[in-house]
Amino acid sequence: MSETEGSVCMRNAATRRAGTLARHLVIKDEATGKQVNVKVSEGNTFKASDLKPLGVRSYDPGYTNTAAVKSSISYIDGGKGILRYRGYPIEELAEGASFLDVAHLVLYGELPNQKQSAEWESLIMQNSVIPKGVENAIAALPHNAHPMSALVVGLSSLGSFYPEANPAFAGSGVYKSSIVQDQQIARILGNAPAIAAAAYHLRTGKKLPQPKAGLSYAENFLYMLDSNGDVNYRPNPKLSRALDVLFLLHAEHEMNCSTAACRHLASSGVDVFTSVAGAVGALYGPLHGGANEAVLRMLERIGSVQNIPAFLQGVKDKKEKLFGFGHRVYKNFDPRAKIIRKIVDEVFATTGKDPLIEVAEALQNAALADEYFVKRKLYPNVDFFSGLIYRAMGFPPEFFTCLFAVPRISGWLAHWRESLVDPDTKILRPQQDYQGVWLRHYVPLNKRSSSQSQLFGPVPVTNEKKRQLQGTYTS
Ligand code: ACO
Repeated sequence: MSETEGSVCMRNAATRRAGTLARHLVIKDEATGKQVNVKVSEGNTFKASDLKPLGVRSYDPGYTNTAAVKSSISYIDGGKGILRYRGYPIEELAEGASFLDVAHLVLYGELPNQKQSAEWESLIMQNSVIPKGVENAIAALPHNAHPMSALVVGLSSLGSFYPEANPAFAGSGVYKSSIVQDQQIARILGNAPAIAAAAYHLRTGKKLPQPKAGLSYAENFLYMLDSNGDVNYRPNPKLSRALDVLFLLHAEHEMNCSTAACRHLASSGVDVFTSVAGAVGALYGPLHGGANEAVLRMLERIGSVQNIPAFLQGVKDKKEKLFGFGHRVYKNFDPRAKIIRKIVDEVFATTGKDPLIEVAEALQNAALADEYFVKRKLYPNVDFFSGLIYRAMGFPPEFFTCLFAVPRISGWLAHWRESLVDPDTKILRPQQDYQGVWLRHYVPLNKRSSSQSQLFGPVPVTNEKKRQLQGTYTS
């Protein structure tokens, strides 16, 4: 914007001080003549509150250009397709590490050494049996409840078993103790596979087996799904390693919608179980983690390669969405999608090839060559191929997002932990730009206009409900 164009003009001024580049913006409101010098940090951010003296606020729907926190957990370069956890490239971690070691890295900043790794695994194992009441809360849901709803129920009810770690009972300082922090981390991360397994068994009607010591995190999860309680059962090592790698790829992804939701809830001082349950709710949506389920349903609907052009036309006409494509941050290949594509073949070598892979590949190639997607920099994201692995492994589509949520818990907990010691942490409370009626005065019910049109409904009433309402109660 030129200085004469608008009432607020911005000029980028850079000055060298003592050999380092100190940047600041000089922002002047031409209507009032007021001016502020706003410091720009190394991370190219300035404090929005520095604009307060001008009487203006930034309006950023969807937070497309707002950093709400400073974080040291993961780094993304969306243009180059780079993802690092605590500085480690995701490709290197996927090659050699286990999910639990990566969870330790994400949470505590370092990969554990051999002794620490064994102790960490044992801590998580010790916390892997869910309270009976949590199992009962999930079992009380309809058998066809979505597993993500069951996961929300399981995680929020889990917190009610630990009142001594709930700030509402124990006071807002309870999380100052690192022992209390670590204890909640172990409880949530340890219990997550069993809660997800209980959600899975709502559908199968089978009893949830007790977890088994000596198995990896992903192995134990598969054990609770498939063993029928037979302690001699051992999941296929290739499939459990594939799932373990998928888990570590999903462990953390900076301030995505669900992590932001977790930090948002935690900023109010609510207990960490509720914060994590809220994050599961955010992940459930098809624009976020729910995309893996949506991709599979989309591929099933497309059905065969010859239907792709018509489908893509529908996408370009904005009648459809190409799920598994596009990302707020990646304007290049999502590095996780590349790794997942390789795992697809490894899993198919064990399970047999899923014919939908041909539809998925042809769809990906057609989209990558199409002007609509090229112009908007839309590439496959983490969810594009993962569903095909889950399907080949026999998971129903509605369970896919649980397979994302369980490992992402480590990222949510890492952000929760980071927020507890961040001196900038405040209750997250965005502002609004009010657009409503300015002022009017109350009119009593009998004086209100009878010609005002109906503002809600019609809400349909099922015949079942009508039948019920036609009944009477004897006193
Ligand atoms: N299919 C078709 N068009 C798309 C897609 C898509 N998957 N993604 C973006 N676009 C289009 C938009 O319609 C918009 O077009 P326009 O400029 O003509 O209006 C343009 O690309 C920019 O998209 P936005 O919606 O503004 O991008 P935003 O950053 O807000 O959304 C999102 C990112 C939600 C991921 C989006 O790309 C999307 O809906 N993708 C499909 C759902 C999905 O796969 N989600 C998983 C993401 S990864 C994760 O959360 C784990």
